[in-house]
Amino acid sequence: MKTLIVYDSTHGTVKECAGKLEGRLSGEVTAVKISNKKSWPVVDDFDNVIIGASIHAGKIQKSVGSFCRENLDKLTNKKVGIFLCTLTPADQAFHYIEEQFPPELVQHASEKSCFGGAVHFERMNFIERFIMKKITKSASNIYQVSEDAITHFASEF
Ligand SMILES: Cc1cc2nc3c(=O)[nH]c(=O)nc-3n(C[C@H](O)[C@H](O)[C@H](O)COP(=O)(O)O)c2cc1C
Repeated sequence: MKTLIVYDSTHGTVKECAGKLEGRLSGEVTAVKISNKKSWPVVDDFDNVIIGASIHAGKIQKSVGSFCRENLDKLTNKKVGIFLCTLTPADQAFHYIEEQFPPELVQHASEKSCFGGAVHFERMNFIERFIMKKITKSASNIYQVSEDAITHFASEF
């Protein structure tokens, strides 16, 4: 079985989670970070597809949204999983999956999860640092990625 993990990551948390998932799934697994440039992996080359993104100002990366919309017919013929990284606690972040991915894909996906998120101030630009300091009321880095959520996703998928 060939599994594609396709994701975008602004400051590295989704990338890190994709790497952890890759190590916990069986079979041949390929993790690919995509961008808006559209040199995207070919969905038909894989049996299963896991899609990962993070929330910034309430939205997922445009690249991931476009990838899902443009491959919707192919994706709904595969086994699909969706995961998100957010600072919103996982039990309150699920609505982002329903709002940000095409409804047909959300309904079709067999595994959906929020893995938590992280704040690395040193990776942000000035504006992002300013926003994050306001939101978190702190200038300290935060790390809230759930190893259990990633392990559970991998075992259920
Ligand atoms: C500018 C900015 C805006 C963010 N907005 C949200 C948000 O609206 N909701 C949320 O839950 N998390 C928000 N986050 C937190 C990110 O989802 C979290 O840092 C995640 O780990 C980012 O993953 P990535 O670095 O792989 O993109 C925001 C982070 C930044 C830097």
